Amino acid sequence: MMLGVIGVGHLATAVLRGLMRSGVEPESVILSPRGHGKALAAAHGFSLAADNAEVVRRAGTILLAVRPADAATVTASLELGAHHTLVSACAGVTVATLAGAAPAARIVRIMPVTAAAYGASPTLLYPHDGAVADWLAQLGPVIPIGSEEEFEVATVSAAVYGWAQALIGAGADWSARHGLPAEVARQLAAATFTAAGRMLAEDPAPADELIRSLATPGGITEAGLDHLTANGAFTAWDGACDVVLKRLRG
Ligand SMILES: NC(=O)c1ccc[n+]([C@@H]2O[C@H](COP(=O)([O-])OP(=O)(O)OC[C@H]3O[C@@H](n4cnc5c(N)ncnc54)[C@H](OP(=O)(O)O)[C@@H]3O)[C@@H](O)[C@H]2O)c1
Repeated sequence: MMLGVIGVGHLATAVLRGLMRSGVEPESVILSPRGHGKALAAAHGFSLAADNAEVVRRAGTILLAVRPADAATVTASLELGAHHTLVSACAGVTVATLAGAAPAARIVRIMPVTAAAYGASPTLLYPHDGAVADWLAQLGPVIPIGSEEEFEVATVSAAVYGWAQALIGAGADWSARHGLPAEVARQLAAATFTAAGRMLAEDPAPADELIRSLATPGGITEAGLDHLTANGAFTAWDGACDVVLKRLRG
C-alpha cells in the first residue's frame, strides 16, 4: 500500500529526503500537489496526485503535515475510511481532535524533526503502531510514548532541537569573531553538541555525576557553568520549556 503525504511543506520535505536516503521507491509515495508536492515529484519521481482525494484513494497510510491550525479542517475534508491510518505530525493536535474529523480511520501521532533527512530524527510515536514504527525507523530512532500527556511533554524536545541549533550557531559565531575560520567554528560547535549528547545517551551514570566529573573545581567548565547559573540561563531554559508546553496543551 502506498504512503500518501498531505501537507508537503518544510517537515514533509525532510521526511521525504530521509525516506529516499533509506532506499524507498519514490513511486510508492504519493504527494498532494500543494506546497512542494509538484516540485518534489518532478525532481525525485514521487507519484503526484491531482488533489487530496486522489491521495486518499491510492494510499493506506497518510502522513498529515499541515500547520496545526489547519489539521482538523483538512482531515475532515479527506473522507478517510477504516482501512486508512492517519499519521499526524501536527504539533499539539490531539488524537480526539483528529478522530472527531476522521472517525473511521486509525489515528497515530508522531513528532519527527528535520534531521529525518539524515536518518537522525528521534521520532516520538503515540499510540504504538508496529507498521508505522517500521517506516519511521528509516528516519532515525523511534521513541514510543505511553500516553498523550507524556507525548505533549516529549514534544517540547522538538522545540529544543531548534534552540540547540541556535546555541550551536551562537557558539560558532563567537569562535569566528575571536579568530577561528567560520567553517571550522561551525563544525566544531556542532560536533561538540553531538559529543555531549552521545555521552549522556551512552554513559549510564546519573547526568549530575557526569557533569560534576567535567566541572573540575577551579577549572574552565565550572567557571562557565557558574556564570550561566548566576545569569539565570538554566531558569530561562526551564521557562522556555514551560512556554512551549503551555502552547502545546492549547
Ligand atoms: N517544521 C518542522 O521542523 C516540524 C517538526 C515537527 C512537526 N512539525 C509539524 O508539521 C506540520 C507542518 O509544519 P511545516 O513547518 O512543514 O509547515 P509548512 O512548511 O507551512 O507546510 C505546511 C504545508 O501544508 C500545505 N497545506 C495547507 N493546507 C493544505 C491542504 N488543504 N491540502 C494539502 N496541503 C495543504 C501547505 O501548502 P501551501 O503552501 O500550498 O499552503 C504547506 O505546504 C505542523 O503541524 C508542525 O507542527 C513541523
